[in-house]
Amino acid sequence: MTTYEMQQEIIRLKKEKNICILVHAYQTHDIWEVADFIGDSFGLTQQAAKSDAETVIMCGVQFMAETVKMLSPQKRVLLAHDGAGCPMAEQMDRDMILRYREKNPGYKVVAYINTTAELKTVCDVAVTSSSAVKIIRALPYDKILFIPDCNLGDWVRKQVPEKQIELLNGGCPTHARITAAEAQAAKAAHPDALLLVHPECRPEVTALADYAGSTTGIMSYAEKSDAKEFIIGTESSIVQHLQFSCPGKKFYPLSKECVCHNMRLTTLGDVYDCVCGTSGREIEMDAETIAQARRCIDEMLAYGG
Ligand code: 13P
Ligand code: SF4
Repeated sequence: MTTYEMQQEIIRLKKEKNICILVHAYQTHDIWEVADFIGDSFGLTQQAAKSDAETVIMCGVQFMAETVKMLSPQKRVLLAHDGAGCPMAEQMDRDMILRYREKNPGYKVVAYINTTAELKTVCDVAVTSSSAVKIIRALPYDKILFIPDCNLGDWVRKQVPEKQIELLNGGCPTHARITAAEAQAAKAAHPDALLLVHPECRPEVTALADYAGSTTGIMSYAEKSDAKEFIIGTESSIVQHLQFSCPGKKFYPLSKECVCHNMRLTTLGDVYDCVCGTSGREIEMDAETIAQARRCIDEMLAYGG
């Protein structure tokens, strides 16, 4: 079967079986082409809440599929590749946060959406990279523990100085790998290019950027900008997607190391097997976990929507 034939079959089967395919922007282009919705974590969450499909296939990582399940417990939610987790989502656990809360009773806990459902059960509100600043500014409390990504937390803290934001030592291994020396070298190699980075990058990298924002934020900035060259400081798939959507502009990866191997696990073949019903991991969550973790997501949608 050619790639095109496989895509056509996926599209036919998803319509026949009332399946919605949600695709994170870091997936490859062949998967983008069979998506019902492509987006960053916040966009995917909003679409999950709206979809009336019986089955949702998540092409991304586990916490994204868990979020869909929390918002639509009656749906069958499949993670397209069984092993696609997010290492950052598992860096902290419930007991660690419960201990922090006990020692710091005045603090509320804000969880980046890249956390497990289990961890969200002991947090107050979730945020995504595109909604974090807006939500934290609007929260009716000032003392906040932001988990797990200290780089994203630092970026928020600088923009919301009126709040007391504490951080712990977690982060995205893919983005944290990029160094300031690489950013300086890329700027020297492409002096006319604008540097666009994800706030999961280290503060010293973000400080050198012309723009910092979520995956969708970076893409729309590059698409709308009058500039012709861009250095892209996020997962390397975004360089390829931008080159497709803006053929008249030039895009350079900030670092060749910026590849999320977990996001890359999913192939078009996995999506095909999922729609055929022979693959995909069904997300199972008990009602209590859903009820407790969902409060975080509902708060996020209320403040950030
Ligand atoms: P966004 O989708 O919010 O841009 O986050 C990037 C990311 O690392 C997703 O895992
Ligand atoms: Fe997790 Fe980073 Fe990969 Fe996103 S890019 S899934 S935060 S490891």
